[in-house]
Amino acid sequence: MIENKLNLAVFISGRGSNLQSLIDACQEDNYPAQISVVLSNKPNVQGLERAKKAGIPTLTIPHKDFETKEAFEGTILEALKDYPIDLICLAGFMRILSPYFIGHWPDKIINIHPSLLPDYKGLNTHERALADGQKEVGCTIHHVVPEMDSGPIIMQKKVPVLDGDTPETLAERVLEQEHIAYPEAVRLLAETR
Ligand code: GRF
Repeated sequence: MIENKLNLAVFISGRGSNLQSLIDACQEDNYPAQISVVLSNKPNVQGLERAKKAGIPTLTIPHKDFETKEAFEGTILEALKDYPIDLICLAGFMRILSPYFIGHWPDKIINIHPSLLPDYKGLNTHERALADGQKEVGCTIHHVVPEMDSGPIIMQKKVPVLDGDTPETLAERVLEQEHIAYPEAVRLLAETR
């Protein structure tokens, strides 16, 4: 049993399959991280169910309940104070965090993105990669900085594009790699602390 595990907050907005990969990894005794809390900006999403099933505390803070990003993020910052947190993992969290929020956690927020950054920032990455005739796609885990889908890269996994691939088949194969990459990247950060 590892002592002094890295405490994670995982931010989600939906399905939470990457959250699940972190939950599964954290259930292993020799994994150097544990999840303190899962936060969603959307109520009733599958990811929240996954967290509850694993006995992990959840916070639902709907951005729609707030008039400003400042108020939304201020509420998150306040709520997080109740948990030990060393690292925030964005896992399909569909809000852009302000420089103010990011400044509270310098180098302590990471994100997973379904492309080989710096290519294809933003949405619909697989459609755009296919339209460009890319032979290889993938996913990236990176530190979060105020500019979207930028920031130092921690890890990438590549996936070949096959004949007949559609955005959906590509998304599925990249997602398999995402589920390997996220726990690996967190382990790397925990072990090089
Ligand atoms: C993943 O493809 C991730 O790379 C992107 O959003 C998707 C989230 O999926 N940022 P899930 O909620 O983890 O299943």
